[in-house]
Amino acid sequence: MPLFESIPENASIPFVKQTQYLVNGELHDWQGAFEQVFSPVFTIKNGTPDNLIGSYPLMDKETALSALNSAVVAYDHGQGVWPKMTVAKRIQHMETFVSLMKEQRESVVRLLMWEIAKTRRDSEKEFDRTIEYIADTIEALKNMDRDASRLTIRQNIIAQIKRAPLGVVLCMGPFNYPLNETFTTLIPALIMGNTIIFKPPKLGVLLHSPLLNAFRDSFPKGVVNIVYGDGQQVIAPLMESGKINVLAFIGSSRVADILKKQHPFPHLLKSVLGLEAKNPAIILHDADIDLTVKECITGSLSFNGQRCTALKILFVHENVYDEFVSKFSKAVDDLVLGLPWDEKADLTPLPEQDKPIWLSGLVEDASQKGAVICNSNGGAKSETAFFPVVLSNVNAQMRIYHEEQFGPVVPIVKFADVTEPLEYVIKSKFGQQASIFGEDPMEISSLVDTLVNQVCRVNINAQCQRGPDVFPFTGRKDSAEGTLSVSDALRVFSIRSMVAMKDSDSNKKILSDILNSKSSNFLTTDYIL
Ligand code: G3H
Repeated sequence: MPLFESIPENASIPFVKQTQYLVNGELHDWQGAFEQVFSPVFTIKNGTPDNLIGSYPLMDKETALSALNSAVVAYDHGQGVWPKMTVAKRIQHMETFVSLMKEQRESVVRLLMWEIAKTRRDSEKEFDRTIEYIADTIEALKNMDRDASRLTIRQNIIAQIKRAPLGVVLCMGPFNYPLNETFTTLIPALIMGNTIIFKPPKLGVLLHSPLLNAFRDSFPKGVVNIVYGDGQQVIAPLMESGKINVLAFIGSSRVADILKKQHPFPHLLKSVLGLEAKNPAIILHDADIDLTVKECITGSLSFNGQRCTALKILFVHENVYDEFVSKFSKAVDDLVLGLPWDEKADLTPLPEQDKPIWLSGLVEDASQKGAVICNSNGGAKSETAFFPVVLSNVNAQMRIYHEEQFGPVVPIVKFADVTEPLEYVIKSKFGQQASIFGEDPMEISSLVDTLVNQVCRVNINAQCQRGPDVFPFTGRKDSAEGTLSVSDALRVFSIRSMVAMKDSDSNKKILSDILNSKSSNFLTTDYIL
């Protein structure tokens, strides 16, 4: 545990008491209760361990409903300034936001390090990836709008087909990518003309505070509203109101189910969900073991395994099992567990404070049923730090075989016949991605043909991952609802709407007059450059 005074200057943060919240284009001073924020990183302050780094408003139902009302009024049944604005103007607002957001990079990065113990390297990557995602989204929207700028004439009907917003979108991201994954729904939803309420995840709240001014200054009032606090207090009333048109949620299926059921009009609500996964690696008899070990290390343990796309179970062919287990366990033991700002740190403390105990329970259950801990440092704990455990001899009787660990425990299963891991994937309630490691094109192609109908991305000789963000990111079964990617997200948060007229002289005159006078924001053939 470091001394508070020993924290390097480039990692230090002041105590962050966030007292303001953004509703209806104004930053209001919160007068009620506050939630304290505890870092996964403890420091010794005046001789005692301390991890209190800030606080934020613990909103009540009334305040949450004022945020909802503000979003509803700003949308105004699609009559608001924002939903009716031209795409080109919305893009200008977004560009203003990005330039203001970039100024806050260092503050957001430091808060990412303290709030969720993401290394500086990964925190910077999360911020920069988000900026790139916004830039790519703008480009994709320009392209989409250019394609839609022409008129279509079929069967004597002239039409213009475009995409229109859906209404009020509630965005909730996960703690492992509190900025990036919140913004991968918020940004496309916003730029398509919807109005937004967003709630930062339970862990990873303060890092949004440096962006409050940017939101306020970049968008018309009521277009972006932020709520904080306990989900039961602030989210349930929003869903129960029936006024949320889209739920964009990345987290657990348990919470997603609760939220969806709270909405009184199931057909009015569209859900865009990123949920759990248990992505397997299938390591074949002829896999390049050194490459496989390297990919499985990052695949299973980057950000301590706290990625929905992480490899969460490794199936290894019996011919290479011993070699793989031994090299993989050694590579895990060589990882450095440190503080987020330590340049050498591969692993960091866990933000969920009770997680080490929960993970120990998974390991204990597996050990009692015959699993073996194969790395020397496996399971060493101190406060919120938990050194990864490599478990071999894993079988279907163990919880770790089925449950998503979302943390640093790596189960390894031996197989003789490749139908065994395939059966696992087919029977699993998850269906996000899989990785195959091997060299034989015939064997790989046969596996690919089975797996593409079970999951939504099959990686060959590589770990599972979401990026590049222009690729579709989704899942089957309990893993997702809807597809996200730069361009898919624009579609998911909008609906096709069109204007059509019979091809007659009088209609053509009306159309020409509208186009020439530029009196409509929708019916226009203007081409965004
Ligand atoms: O937590 C799930 C993320 O979408 C994973 O993204 O594969 O880029 O880490 P990533």
